[in-house]
Amino acid sequence: MAPEAIDPSPPPAAALPAYKGPTAYKDASGTSPETFNRHAEEHGTGTHAGAKYPHYLPVWDKEVKYPPLEPFEHYEHGKDADPSFPNLLPPGRSQVSDLTGNIGAEVHGVQLSALSDKGRDELALFVAQKKVVAFRNQDLSTHPIPTALTLGTYFGRLHIHPTSGHPPNHPEIHLVYRSSTTPSSSAHAQDFLTEHTTSVAWHSDVTYEAQPPGTTFLYLLEGPSSAGGKTKAGGDTLFVNAAEAYRRLSPAFRRRLHGLRAVHSGVQQAEQSLGRGGVVRREAVGSVHPVVRTHPVTGEKALFVNAQFTRRILDLKQEESDALLKFLFDHIALGADFQARVKWAPGTVVVWDNRVTGHSALVDWEDGSRRHLARITPQAERPYETPFEEDDVGVGEL
Ligand SMILES: [Fe+2]
Repeated sequence: MAPEAIDPSPPPAAALPAYKGPTAYKDASGTSPETFNRHAEEHGTGTHAGAKYPHYLPVWDKEVKYPPLEPFEHYEHGKDADPSFPNLLPPGRSQVSDLTGNIGAEVHGVQLSALSDKGRDELALFVAQKKVVAFRNQDLSTHPIPTALTLGTYFGRLHIHPTSGHPPNHPEIHLVYRSSTTPSSSAHAQDFLTEHTTSVAWHSDVTYEAQPPGTTFLYLLEGPSSAGGKTKAGGDTLFVNAAEAYRRLSPAFRRRLHGLRAVHSGVQQAEQSLGRGGVVRREAVGSVHPVVRTHPVTGEKALFVNAQFTRRILDLKQEESDALLKFLFDHIALGADFQARVKWAPGTVVVWDNRVTGHSALVDWEDGSRRHLARITPQAERPYETPFEEDDVGVGEL
């Protein structure tokens, strides 16, 4: 059946701050321009070495401003993929192992930077099916940054994050950065766990955009498991299968969710960035997306709400919206039987489909090791939903 597009016209920007929702945005950023000690990060301290990838250290240029993002036509390459994956996973050369029964895979023997276009098409489909895939022993971080960006460009227009630090001259790289020199006394960069019981903050990336990301890349530059500190593990990333989260709900409940639309807002993220001396390079926006979205290739339906950015379900009263969102956020957060935990290692590139997953970083190491990752974030189609089906099933044999 052809997808039924809904008309998610955003509410007026002036109305966005009014949408608070049942949860507040948790700013787990380890580093801001106020607290970033470039000299220490480049050259090291008495206890920690300098960055292994200094050309990936973040800058925040307060003078740079970008206009609002314009709509664009997204081409979904997963539709062109050979579902037997001969180019991505050539027999005899590649090894694939599943991480869990319903989400995640780990792949050895494949070099993402060397994929042909057919291999890239298959990557989009494979990741859509597995939700998240950890590719080991990759060389992406050793290439010049423009070469790394070329890989992402194939999958969609590269998103420039409104608040994050990026390598000089490469705003399309979103940096995740935390280090021992992040001071613990600053009001906003304080140790996150002095203010919160846990660092877990489930979300999908930048869902406040009208066209949120699809096939998304995150690669390790340096992390607690590889930094040579006391801790030999830590800083894993959790992922949740949002399609399976949808299917776990009763048919009656799923039916009710169809047709509902929710406001996703970037306002709190922008406010918190300014509050810790950071930047807002593009005016904060909000978008209205369906609560249940359909994947353009697999046809799977997935819950598309998250505690970081989803603020209000339209047409419901505040208390009704808060209660329903709280239930869905808890359902997603508590579903350890549809989640996976990805451990990072040198050379690991993790690729996920942001349309059908949520994720959370974990701040669980205590020796001050640097955690430094780079994300390439191709945007995808405007989310849409297709009609409720009583006997909805998954993507079949994976
Ligand atoms: Fe994220």
